[in-house]
Amino acid sequence: MKTVLTNDPLEAAEFIKRGGIVAFPTETVYGLGANVFDEQAVAKIFEAKRRPADNPLIAHISDIGQITTLATEVTENAEKFIQIFFPGPLTIVLPKFDAVPYIATAGLDTIGVRMPRFELAHRLIAACGVPVVAPSANLSGRPSPTTWHAVAEDLDDRIDCILQGDPTEIGLESTVVDCTGEVPLLLRQGAVSLEQLKAIVPETRPYEATAHEQPKSPGLKHRHYSPTAKVLILDHKFEISNIESGAAYIGVNERGDRFQVTRICRSTDEYAQSVFEFFRECDRKGIKTIYCEMVEETGIGAALMDRLRRAAKG
Ligand code: TXA
Ligand code: MG
Repeated sequence: MKTVLTNDPLEAAEFIKRGGIVAFPTETVYGLGANVFDEQAVAKIFEAKRRPADNPLIAHISDIGQITTLATEVTENAEKFIQIFFPGPLTIVLPKFDAVPYIATAGLDTIGVRMPRFELAHRLIAACGVPVVAPSANLSGRPSPTTWHAVAEDLDDRIDCILQGDPTEIGLESTVVDCTGEVPLLLRQGAVSLEQLKAIVPETRPYEATAHEQPKSPGLKHRHYSPTAKVLILDHKFEISNIESGAAYIGVNERGDRFQVTRICRSTDEYAQSVFEFFRECDRKGIKTIYCEMVEETGIGAALMDRLRRAAKG
């Protein structure tokens, strides 16, 4: 199929209404969207991305009222987070409503719900008239796309349409918090930090899978965010004794070493915003090793270090 490029959210919404799949920008990363209630359309997402069927999708809403079409209950803690962080880069996991097909939740009885704050995303979802399930719009395992060019690089001719927007503001995927139990569990770090969640519900804690339990966030066990190049995490005081050719560096501190490709970011925010695109740029240039400076794990720095560690695992 030929992928249509547009910057009109109404044109893009028509594809979703007719059972197609559309990539669109949010404040975190680009998503690949379909009507949550259309099983065949949701199946197309898994096929286009080559996504493992056991990895659940997030449903995106344009209006708080839509939650009742997705979840049987908005728990007390969820309500508190929604008050503060919706719309924004936070996904809340709730008990799923019957009408949500199991293909969207990968067989789970829960559903992740997020309300993007990015205007273009909001207009697209509102025009669809239904919640839109959307994973990141990359081929499974590759770095998430933060530009529409990155979406096209992975998915051109595999999806119906790309809604073109600017590079995404945050650059890392949303924070995911499970609110189905008494204690909120942080499943994935993102721009909303654990400290910020704790300020609202102090008991909130990171989720740790026990040996006997099914992992709560199946997606986390899959290979993630990896460029083809090897990723190494670097303390800025650490000296690299012998830089091989085909090495690249990204960080906030300048280094004396000579790399083939270098990206110095003005802040941790900018580092987070540009790291996935930098990984892609390195792959395009045939870079073999990417040195990534470690950052302090506060605020967005915690999410950034999480993604760097996953990328380093390959
Ligand atoms: O920022 C984002 O969240 C982006 C944009 C497009 O909104 N989306 C995104 O989707 O990153 P994806 O599919 O790449 O990541 C979804 C994550 C996975 O780790 C998945 O396992 C988890 O959310 N997840 C989704 N539904 C879940 C559920 N019901 N229970 C537990 N984890 C869930
Ligand atoms: Mg993803």
